[in-house]
Amino acid sequence: MRSLLVGFHRQCRAAKNILNYRITIRSQHQQAANFVLTEPIQFSRDFLFRQLFDPVSSTYTYLLGDVTKREAILIDPVIEHAERDANMINELGLCLKYAVNTHMHADHITGTGKLKILLPSCRSMISRASGAEADILLNPQDNIEFGRHQLKVLPTPGHTEGCVTYVCHEQGIAFTGDTLLIRGCGRTDFQGGSSATLYKSVHSVIFNFPLNYRLYPAHDYTGRTVTTVGEEKVYNPRLSKSLDEFIHIMENLNLPYPKMIDKAVPANKICGLFELDEQKNM
Ligand SMILES: [Fe+2]
Repeated sequence: MRSLLVGFHRQCRAAKNILNYRITIRSQHQQAANFVLTEPIQFSRDFLFRQLFDPVSSTYTYLLGDVTKREAILIDPVIEHAERDANMINELGLCLKYAVNTHMHADHITGTGKLKILLPSCRSMISRASGAEADILLNPQDNIEFGRHQLKVLPTPGHTEGCVTYVCHEQGIAFTGDTLLIRGCGRTDFQGGSSATLYKSVHSVIFNFPLNYRLYPAHDYTGRTVTTVGEEKVYNPRLSKSLDEFIHIMENLNLPYPKMIDKAVPANKICGLFELDEQKNM
């Protein structure tokens, strides 16, 4: 009788533990959901936003504009799509003020040089720290103005030494280049990259934005277009980890040598014009 009672108590305790465990897991999921499912910030009525795509390098190009003043900028254009982008800008009746890069890319050639030829109003921009040439070399905290809108330049090195994030606080959006990708990040084994530096950039700059800021990366390889600070803080499989874990992950990616790097980096040092000169001489 006594052993039956002991067994019954043990079973009760086990059932209670399972119940408590389920309640804990459910409340953890609920907390995570509250953290990541944030209220979206709406675009202003006079703010134009278009997300364009290059399927070869999985690069996103962003067209931003002031609808009233009709001034626009392009972020991370790709040379093969310069005509597409110029046509869209002309069709919308916009004037392209700047073609801007988040960093000196190694996987595609920038369209900035070609866009300057197609749309002579356009001037190229990249960070001074990138080591590339451009009409305007950006310094930390500079503002890129188009109409009444502006992007602030925030250094976020780590993928390359010259990587920056462009943030528009009014619209609650940031363009993170390869520093932060959706559920990932750029590699850190070339172009002066450093895992510890990238981790610090993300945690001290990008993760300091409000949770509902939308983040637009330079690439996505699985069709996702946008994320938020809240989502990445919880679900980024690399950057939600400790610094030591992150460095260990990055050191063990075993990625192949970048296919385009030997062609793209020299071209991107001069706004992609290297490629144009080659084409002209053919
Ligand atoms: Fe990159």
